[in-house]
Amino acid sequence: MAKRDFLQITDFSRKEIEQLFELSKRMKTRGYRETPLAGKTLAMIFAKSSTRTRVSFEVGAYQLGGQALFLSSKDIQIGRGEPIPDTARVLSRYVDGIMIRTFDHAEVEELARYATIPVINGLTDLTHPCQVLADLFTIKEQLGGWEGKRIAWVGDGNNMANAWLEAAKVLGFELRLACPEGFEPNRAKFEAAKQGGCVLVTEVPEEAVEGAHVVNTDVWASMGQEGEAEARRNAFKGYTVDADLMKLADPKAIFLHCLPAHRGEEVTADVIDGPQSRVWDEAENRLHVQKALLATLMA
Ligand code: CP
Ligand code: NVA
Repeated sequence: MAKRDFLQITDFSRKEIEQLFELSKRMKTRGYRETPLAGKTLAMIFAKSSTRTRVSFEVGAYQLGGQALFLSSKDIQIGRGEPIPDTARVLSRYVDGIMIRTFDHAEVEELARYATIPVINGLTDLTHPCQVLADLFTIKEQLGGWEGKRIAWVGDGNNMANAWLEAAKVLGFELRLACPEGFEPNRAKFEAAKQGGCVLVTEVPEEAVEGAHVVNTDVWASMGQEGEAEARRNAFKGYTVDADLMKLADPKAIFLHCLPAHRGEEVTADVIDGPQSRVWDEAENRLHVQKALLATLMA
C-alpha cells in the first residue's frame, strides 16, 4: 500500500476526517489501550519553537507503544545544509514516520517526495493542519459538528487561517475571515475553498463575527515575523477579539485560539480566560487527534 502523508487538510476526504475523529474519540474516552505503534519511531524535526506540537506528538507516540525522537534542525545536518532529499532517504531507513515543523512549505513537500515513510506537517509558514484538525474535533465535541455552523476568523491571514480555508474546502461549512488589507490569507487556498463552501474575506471584524458559532484568532506576528511585531501591532488595531465583539456572535458561541496567545493584542484576557473559551480543551485535543493520525498513517 502506498504511504500516506498529511501536509494539508485537503490530503484527507470528509469521510477520512470523520473516521479519524471516531478514532480520536475512542482514544480520548474509552480507555483505549491498543499499541499500534509498538516498536515504531516517529522522528520530529523542529526548525521553530513548540510546546504543544512537540509534547503532544511525543506523548502520543509513547501512549501508542512507540517512541518519538526530537530533532532540532540546528543539531542535525539539515541545519548545516545537508540536502532535504538525502535527509529523507536516510531517515526512511531508520524510523517509521516524520513530523516536521519549519518555515518554507516547499521543504516539507520535498521531504515527503523523497521519504518512503509518512510525513506529517507540524506547521509551516503556509499552513498548520494538525491544529485545525484538533479545532474541528473540539467543535464537534462542543457544538455537535460544523454542519450549518458559521466559523469566524479575526486577525492575520496566516498559516492557521489558510488551514481553515483547507478545512472549509473539504467540509463545506461557512467561514468568514476578517483580515486587514495586506494581511489576507493565501489567494489560491481562498479560491479553492470558495468552490467547497461559503467563504467570505472582509476587513470588518464585526461582519465576520456576526452570528458566528465559533470565533477564532491567532497571534499578529507568527514565528519568524518577530521583527515585524511593532508594525503589525499598528496594522491590526481594531482586530482584537474582546467582549464587545463576542457579543455579536451567537449567544452559545465558543472562542478558540491555537496558542501561544498574547493577551491584550489579538484577544483580551476576559475572553480567552472567560466562560466561552475552549482553548484548554482545544490544546488537549491535539493529543487525541494526533494519536489517531499516527495510528492511521504509521500503524
Ligand atoms: N498551537 C501550537 O502549535 O502550539 P506550539 O507552537 O506550542 O506547538
Ligand atoms: N501562527 C502561529 C501559530 C503558532 C502555533 C505561528 O506560526 O507562529
